[in-house]
Amino acid sequence: MTQALRHLVSIDDFSVEEIRALFEKADHFAEHPRAHADLCPGMISASLFYEPSTRTRLSFESAMLRLGGGVLTAAEMKQSSASKGESLADTVRVVGGAYSDVIVLRHPSEGAARLAAQYSPVPVINAGDGAHEHPTQTLCDLYNLHVERGHIEGLDVVLAGDLKYSRTVHSFAYALARFGANIVCVPQAGFEMPDYVLRRLREEFGVEPIRADARRLGNLASDSDAVYLTPQKPHQLSLFTDARGWEVEHVDALYMTRPQTERHAGADTLKAEYPRLGKRSMAVESLRDAVVMHPLPRRDEIDSEIDSDPRSIYFKQAARGVPIRMAILGMLLGRSDLGVEPAPPGAEGIAVRVGGNPCPNPACISRTETRHVTPAFTLAGRVPLRAHCAYCSRELTFDWVGCSTSRHYHAPSAGDLRRVRPEHLVFFPDREAAEAAGFEPVARSRDGVSSGSPRA
Ligand code: NCD
Repeated sequence: MTQALRHLVSIDDFSVEEIRALFEKADHFAEHPRAHADLCPGMISASLFYEPSTRTRLSFESAMLRLGGGVLTAAEMKQSSASKGESLADTVRVVGGAYSDVIVLRHPSEGAARLAAQYSPVPVINAGDGAHEHPTQTLCDLYNLHVERGHIEGLDVVLAGDLKYSRTVHSFAYALARFGANIVCVPQAGFEMPDYVLRRLREEFGVEPIRADARRLGNLASDSDAVYLTPQKPHQLSLFTDARGWEVEHVDALYMTRPQTERHAGADTLKAEYPRLGKRSMAVESLRDAVVMHPLPRRDEIDSEIDSDPRSIYFKQAARGVPIRMAILGMLLGRSDLGVEPAPPGAEGIAVRVGGNPCPNPACISRTETRHVTPAFTLAGRVPLRAHCAYCSRELTFDWVGCSTSRHYHAPSAGDLRRVRPEHLVFFPDREAAEAAGFEPVARSRDGVSSGSPRA
């Protein structure tokens, strides 16, 4: 049976059942790492890295070699034909043809892996796209929680540091919410979780941010406006939240990140002390049995004095990157059957049209790549109607939404639009753009209800 080509662009591309099945495979690979060279002989993975990497690239290459395959490495893509102006689309069409069976891509532009997947004849694995996502690190992080804690649902996980630009944090937060874990955000001031991530957590998983009282986290949170994110229902929460907000009493895992200075571009990093973990901060009661995780590399945010603390698992965490990536490669190359239903297609969302404006995110691949990329947008929510960039997930602001069959445009919250099929929706930044595209305002009655009804 031929298998449909699958990519790993976002953590959404794998279902919870698939992720659990990957954990089982990874357990098996971790137990006997040298006994699986019969799984992918004759297959080649290509590492295309446009940004530095140690762990992600080497653990993928180690994983492929342990599965009996070969690797092609372009760790310095800036010295490749990219420096001669070759587009990403052309590069993946070439590398994914005769040269390799799977592409592992790291790129500074957000949405680069989604673009690569549109053109590649072989599976594309996102090994980090700018500040956007890093799904294989998330699978590694979830696998670590699974091994260390035996379950993920209901865990209280602190995410600390640069939550704005850490792509590992964004993918991890989506996955934690999907698995039913609670998140305590302890950002450096000015580097809070981005709105587009919070909005998605709210809309897809019903996660409402609650102000958190993090005094029990000691000096780790002394400078931070902590926020608690929980997929629990509001009626459950009302049982145990008080006016000061959620009190952080007990932490199961503490996930520290480094400042992503390469993406700060002039942002004021000196506003507050960066959260830092050392013997003193680890002595607080709430962290008594918290495992300490970090995607690495670390700078000064974790003091080496706690490296020998049994709660510090960051080196084990990095080692587990090999078995989980063996499981990912085996699956995407069609060499190991997970025995569960694949995630339904459509993680990329429902396409909608946008009249007029490009994605506002200057780091989006639809802005940084000038050739072979067509701006694309997907529905972000229906009430009111909203759309976001299909590449970098950034939400766009629209004042008007048209229906391509009635040729009328309406306010995004207009009731008339509820019945319009997504393929007939056209989002406009302003009235001028709508009218330039040949759309007309709908006539309004005195009570403000639209009289012209669009045909869906
Ligand atoms: C992370 C990354 O590249 O986003 N590193 C990794 O893949 N393990 C984290 C980081 O660089 O801070």
